[in-house]
Amino acid sequence: MKARTLQLAHAVPRHVAIIMDGNGRWAQQRGLIRQEGHRAGAKAVRRAVQASCKYGVATLTLYAFSSDNWKRPQPEVEALMLLFRHFLITEIEECLREGVRIRVIGRRDRLPRTLIPLIEKAEMETAGCTRLLLRLAVDYSSRDAIVQAAATARTREEFSAALGPDVDLLIRTAGEQRLSDYLLWECAYAELMFVEELWPEFDEASLGAAIEVYSRRERRFGGLAAKQSA
Ligand code: FPP
Repeated sequence: MKARTLQLAHAVPRHVAIIMDGNGRWAQQRGLIRQEGHRAGAKAVRRAVQASCKYGVATLTLYAFSSDNWKRPQPEVEALMLLFRHFLITEIEECLREGVRIRVIGRRDRLPRTLIPLIEKAEMETAGCTRLLLRLAVDYSSRDAIVQAAATARTREEFSAALGPDVDLLIRTAGEQRLSDYLLWECAYAELMFVEELWPEFDEASLGAAIEVYSRRERRFGGLAAKQSA
């Protein structure tokens, strides 16, 4: 499937959010430790960013580490933190080249202290990029984000501004069909797509296929279908 053709022929979702599930199963299928699955998952992150740029997606939000993931074994948590660290160090140049702005959402007070300056640096250096907004959700809980927004916002608009843009297309890989405390407010009218592929297998064609299905769905936002309201 050619990225350029797809971009011209289909309605591209402005905001794509992905629950990157299945790294552990991918590793298990190959007799590898779970950390190897996450390493392969990090490669899929790079592919998803590149593909989002090609297809003209405006915002890509990736669920990298949920607030509940702290319950995982310490070596796995440490491996994930090392992968974020590596990503923040090695990907800035590519992001600047491609016009990708990095934002990290979620709590920062429980992250390893060495990660914070790297996050701030990545956000600062890419602040002027406008092609794609890449939001990495790390130590993220949508319920926490909602509670926090509710403490300051007085109107729906302020609430939405505090949380971020509405999601158009939510993709979860690896077959499970649940939201797992991810972008609950922002997904109010999102098209939900659950695919069987494991996250490390996800590539440009996978995103293209999801966008194609999205473009064939009719979004009504509580109204009527176009032909019924004519
Ligand atoms: C879920 O798979 C995945 C995660 C909890 C972590 C996601 C992390 C990455 C994709 C890699 C690093 C990311 C960046 C941004 C560099 P799982 O472990 O729950 O899989 P399973 O359900 O098959 O066990």
